[in-house]
Parts: sequence; C-alpha cells; structure tokens
Amino acid sequence: MAEELIVAQGGKMEKYEVLYRQIEALMAGESDIIANMANVAAMIHSTFGFWWTGFYRVVGEELVLGPFQGPLACSRIRYGKGVCGTAWREQMTQIVPDVEQFPGHIACSSLSRSEIVVPVWRGGEVVAVLDIDSEYLAMFDQEDKLWLEKVVKLFDR
Ligand code: SME
Repeated sequence: MAEELIVAQGGKMEKYEVLYRQIEALMAGESDIIANMANVAAMIHSTFGFWWTGFYRVVGEELVLGPFQGPLACSRIRYGKGVCGTAWREQMTQIVPDVEQFPGHIACSSLSRSEIVVPVWRGGEVVAVLDIDSEYLAMFDQEDKLWLEKVVKLFDR
C-alpha cells in the first residue's frame, strides 16, 4: 500500500468506506499489533480530524495507553473506570454524547465533549479498546459504531 492516506469526498459513509479499504490493505501486509494500532489511529484521526484517537491495551488489571494521535492522555485506566474501563467491563461499545453526563468519565482533556469507545477482540477476549474523543457534543452515532466495530474486527486474527 502506498504510504499516503486517501480521504474520500462526501459524507461520513463514503469516508468510512474508503478508510476501511485502506486499513484492510495495510493490515493484510503487517502482523505487528502495535504497528497496526499506530497506523489505524493515524488514519482514523486524519480522515475525520477528531480531537483524540487511540488505543488503550489491556495489561493485567488495567488499561495502559497505546498508540494514539492527539494531545497527551492518561497513561492508565482501572478496570470499569471511565468510558474506556466501562467498555472493557461491559464488553460493549460505549457512545457518550455528552461526557459531562457520564458518571465517572475521566477527563484527560477538558476540551473533550463526546466520545466513543469500542472494545477490540482477539481470540475471544477483549485485548484493547479504541477510544475516540471529539471537542463537539454528540459527534458519534450508530454509523460510527458500525464502521469502527468493523475496523477493530481486523485485529481479531
Ligand atoms: N475519557 C476517557 C479517558 C481516555 S481519554 O479521553 C484519552 C474515559 O473516560 O475513559
């Protein structure tokens, strides 16, 4: 794959379609999970211009910061804490339209207003979460959930 990201014109669906194809091609040629997380974070982040895009990896009883794009973030999140820890515990995608309304939200950045966190499965276990933050309220919906869950499925191999 050429090391240059193509961003589709048009709406969110068109952007995700083109993004997905590029992520699929990239991951087909690379087996290292950290390298793939790094490029996936970069590709999602540059396609949509989100505030923060990255992974937290499950390490023992905690989530530990992995590859990301955006400002400095919390290094560790306990099981069940914040939106990320909740996605891990519930093993389900969390869409938070207003982070101030989410009990226990961890404010790594005061500018973050809405968030989506998607569990990353590998061999029947959640091994990481993909966390995306926006500086706008209610940025994420079912369409993001669908596409991002499809993206993280590529890690399950
Ligand atoms: N807000 C997240 C913490 C991670 S940062 O936003 C990058 C949470 O509540 O889990």
